[in-house]
Amino acid sequence: MDVRKKLEILADAAKYDASCSSSGGKRKADKEGLGSVEGMGICHSYTPDGRCVSLLKILLTNFCIYDCQYCINRISSDTARARFTPAEVVRLTYGPGVPRSQAPEGDALEEMWGTYYASTFNPARLNVRAMRAEMPKKHWATLPETRLIPELVRQAPERTSRMVSPKLELSESSRFLPEHRDLASLAHAARGCRACPLHERATHMVFGEGPAGARLMLVGEQPGDMEDREGRPFIGPAGQLLDTVLASVGLERGQIYVTNAVKHFGWVEGEEKQRLHVKPGRGEVLACKGWLEAEVAQVKPRMILCLGATAAQVFLGPGFRINLSRGQIFETPWAKAWMATFHPSALLRMPDERARAQARIHFEEDLRKVADTLRALG
Ligand code: URA
Repeated sequence: MDVRKKLEILADAAKYDASCSSSGGKRKADKEGLGSVEGMGICHSYTPDGRCVSLLKILLTNFCIYDCQYCINRISSDTARARFTPAEVVRLTYGPGVPRSQAPEGDALEEMWGTYYASTFNPARLNVRAMRAEMPKKHWATLPETRLIPELVRQAPERTSRMVSPKLELSESSRFLPEHRDLASLAHAARGCRACPLHERATHMVFGEGPAGARLMLVGEQPGDMEDREGRPFIGPAGQLLDTVLASVGLERGQIYVTNAVKHFGWVEGEEKQRLHVKPGRGEVLACKGWLEAEVAQVKPRMILCLGATAAQVFLGPGFRINLSRGQIFETPWAKAWMATFHPSALLRMPDERARAQARIHFEEDLRKVADTLRALG
């Protein structure tokens, strides 16, 4: 096969290479930045916005030994294959030099590069913090793609939600929504919700609480044991930690609308007959989503803060990772400002003392940022 044909095949294959390695590879301990994925698949490192580094180099081959479900280059795919020899790569990479007088003015490829950069940008993998670390501001003036980044970051949440929304069916709970959607009517109707089996073992349907015009909405995962007994969100140990940090950054709990992604407690019996929380599954989260959507539509918060991945993923899809994207503010269709941070229960449960202390610092920083953002939003 001639080099041109190989180039054609490999350039095409590289376009689909974004999920390679990051999908199945193990992360190094720091979990941040380039090269953080150990050797796996066609390449082993990816950019902070999720693109495989092979895209920025030459894809040497699209032969792969793995069978990753979403990858066009997976072993079971009948796509055309090619492999460059080292000699071919050298020939492709280094042509004969030309004198400066023959060098083109400006950079004729810049516009094309911008189009390419924007079209391969994966909004679902955006990690602004890692991006800034890998691409320090002092280099921005010489990188043509940096002028595109603010707009790409701004559009990321909406594009991500469009990417995932076709897969979301109508929430089961929509069948139980009342005609009048004020908070009191919603809370009343929600008591009769049978959209998923969790109601069978729960004591209360724990609906959100807080003022109808709250500027900030907090969304947790699911009520715990105490919340289930009392019928109110975030009143147990996680709620107490939350209240402490809210107060320390000047946010008043009474002014905030506090709710959960799933509104019934899910549990199994422990050895001492205690009720042990069971994380809700995607089915339960989706079944309950109708209530959360109705709450957001009614409260119209200026800002939403999701506590933990379960809540964040209701909005931005299953690809959202707290460790990668916590503390970043996004403009979204649901609120002018949207952020996710750790769940306070995670802070209470982390076994490693240093990791726990670090997470607590991040949690406080994030909540301070929420307070600042709300002030800035006016
Ligand atoms: N954890 C949550 O996510 N919500 C609560 O209401 C309590 C604990």
